[in-house]
Amino acid sequence: MIVTTLLVPTNVSSATVAACAKINLTLDVLGRRDDGYHELRSLVVGVDLCDTVRCHPLDRPQLVVDCSESSLAGRDNLAYQAALEFAGHCGIDPALRIELDKVIPVGGGLGGGSSDAAATLRVCNHVWNAGLDRAELSRLGARLGSDVPLFFFLPSAVVTGRGEQVEPVSLCWSGWVLLIMAGPGVPTAEVYRAWRHTDTARLPADMDREVCAAAGAEELSGLLTNHLEAAVFRVSPRVARVYDELNRAGFGPLRVSGAG
Ligand code: C5P
Repeated sequence: MIVTTLLVPTNVSSATVAACAKINLTLDVLGRRDDGYHELRSLVVGVDLCDTVRCHPLDRPQLVVDCSESSLAGRDNLAYQAALEFAGHCGIDPALRIELDKVIPVGGGLGGGSSDAAATLRVCNHVWNAGLDRAELSRLGARLGSDVPLFFFLPSAVVTGRGEQVEPVSLCWSGWVLLIMAGPGVPTAEVYRAWRHTDTARLPADMDREVCAAAGAEELSGLLTNHLEAAVFRVSPRVARVYDELNRAGFGPLRVSGAG
């Protein structure tokens, strides 16, 4: 698994960034919180399946998001929100066109939208020469979504809290995973709503260390855990069916990639 983060100036002030997907190697849901979120502990790794984010400064104040998937263009896009958040934080009147080339499937638990947002923050930092460090970018990212900060700490990290507290770790294993999109995207909020305390047993606290130390694919695959899997299957019987069929055909071990 190789993560590439390119920051390529395409002329004096335009820039292009690769926004990679992530998968959760472990995902332990510790309980529901008073604020409606769920307390997590998860080991995430980046995979080199990437969207591309290009930013071009404009002549007059205007913020535009164009997307290769037209349904994702406009103000609802997290990349738009990210540029707005960054501009507000730095007191900038944004004059920027953001072009998103989508490759990461939407709603597949791969963090595509969050990764685009993190890449947009990074690119804004570059084109506006703002000089924010990783911790500041990560704090801005946390305002946009629980999964945004982790993208500043890949290739591998343990996330806690609602996902916004991130500790980079190093993994002994590197290799290939086969990603299978088993149907239409599954909305994250619905998956969390469908989660039950009884879904799975708590993971031991030192599980992350064990996963990080696993060097071989077979050893690692025996440790993969996702406590949202049962909830994903409740929300999407189609994903459950594909999962069962692949398992029966001997394609295991399989895991759901995240909350989708
Ligand atoms: O943080 P983000 O906006 O990406 O989360 C989307 C939704 O997923 C939240 O509104 C919440 O319903 C759910 N969520 C959760 N616990 C988390 C992360 C997300 O319940 N740790």
